[in-house]
Amino acid sequence: MIFVCENCGYESSKWLGKCPMCGSWNSFKEIRETIEKEKTKGILVNLTEIKESKEKRLKTEIEEFDRVLGGGLVKGSLILIGGEPGIGKSTLSLQISLALISKGFKVLYVSSEENPSQIKMRYNRLSSLWKINYEKFYLLFSSDLEEILLQINNLNPDIVIIDSIQTIEDKTIPQVAGSVTQVREVTLKLLNLAKRKDLPLIIISHVTKQGLIAGPKVLEHMVDVVLYFEGDINTDYRILRCEKNRFGPANEIGIFEMQEFGLQEVKNPYLLFLPHLKEEVSGLTFVPLSEGRRVIVTEIQCLATPTYFPYPQRVVQGFDIRRLSILLSVLDIQANITTGRYDIYLNIAGSLYIKENAGDLGIICAVASAIKRTSIKKLTCFLGEVGLLGEIRPVSLIRERIKEAKKLGFSRVILPKENTPIYLEGDNIEIIPVSSLKEVFKILNFDQGR
Ligand code: TYD
Ligand code: MG
Repeated sequence: MIFVCENCGYESSKWLGKCPMCGSWNSFKEIRETIEKEKTKGILVNLTEIKESKEKRLKTEIEEFDRVLGGGLVKGSLILIGGEPGIGKSTLSLQISLALISKGFKVLYVSSEENPSQIKMRYNRLSSLWKINYEKFYLLFSSDLEEILLQINNLNPDIVIIDSIQTIEDKTIPQVAGSVTQVREVTLKLLNLAKRKDLPLIIISHVTKQGLIAGPKVLEHMVDVVLYFEGDINTDYRILRCEKNRFGPANEIGIFEMQEFGLQEVKNPYLLFLPHLKEEVSGLTFVPLSEGRRVIVTEIQCLATPTYFPYPQRVVQGFDIRRLSILLSVLDIQANITTGRYDIYLNIAGSLYIKENAGDLGIICAVASAIKRTSIKKLTCFLGEVGLLGEIRPVSLIRERIKEAKKLGFSRVILPKENTPIYLEGDNIEIIPVSSLKEVFKILNFDQGR
């Protein structure tokens, strides 16, 4: 017997009142461990004796989707697509189905949330894009796991899509659909089937408010690929982000735009993240970020206003708030720009999240520019990790980042000195090597008092 937190999936060998991971109360439920422990013998082989098997992939030709997966759907893999309700998971999965049918694959789409007429309505909206032969498209409206497994066995499809995992029920288990036990058992049985039949299987899952996959984290380590479909519901842009991939790079993103007739791929995301403002304003910087194999020049915006609160406010979107606190302390000590009396609002454009430290210099300069109310010369990009002592450290992929900035018409890049020897083609773009924050602020004229 084990106990699992229904909110986040934390496991414990005894019952707990409060979950040590997510902090929720009374969320622990006892579950049976039904993972079949087959008696298998270990094998001992020499590496040279192992035969290579080539990965078999199904390509949808929806480039943004295939690339995120590392080149298409791998046979026998279980793919989880998580996202908030209404973000477009069902639309994306229907488009994937249509794309695969048009290539001659047999698709089984299991829907337990919508009725046939709703699916048909959605299909009609999308169908202006696809001229296909319906014959290979099978829809199953059921939430009963046993029936789903039976139909998969009878039909032998090339791919199965389950929308959504939280509504599927294994009748042999007493708990309700969507509970940890159900989600876990259902996923496990589907996983076994996918491996046995060498079938790619996509499962859709809702994400709770805290951003966890509801019915929970348990799923993340069971499946082969974890994708999150994100974006601000008030805008049309959607990002498909890969969190885990056993068969490809794990940090790739795909960008889509939700339009009247379905999701369109955004192959040139520059307009999305790039400035809509033509004049110089304070608190604005640009950073060529690497997102998987692609570089996206991203806009960073910062507002700093004198605070009316006992503790100054830090409101951050798209960046780690603790990392921001460190950068603010560096700004305070190493550059004498005090942030303690200001509320700081920091925003990364286009729903992107900056994970890499290469964005540090851009962020620190956006904050300094906002506090100083001094704008930075137009068409300047920033690159560099900022250390605690105000030193600027080198970043990866420097050539690709500069190439992208140049392509977009930026005229100068401020970057770490240690990165310069490997960069040779400085034409058309001014390269300004720096090694400390003080140097950068001198270039930007931030070193003078306000
Ligand atoms: P949906 O795929 O149902 O979201 P989810 O499965 O993640 O809950 O789609 C949600 C939104 O997308 C809905 O508000 C309608 C909108 N939409 C379009 O704008 N254009 C379209 O062609 C389709 C099919 C949906
Ligand atoms: Mg849906």
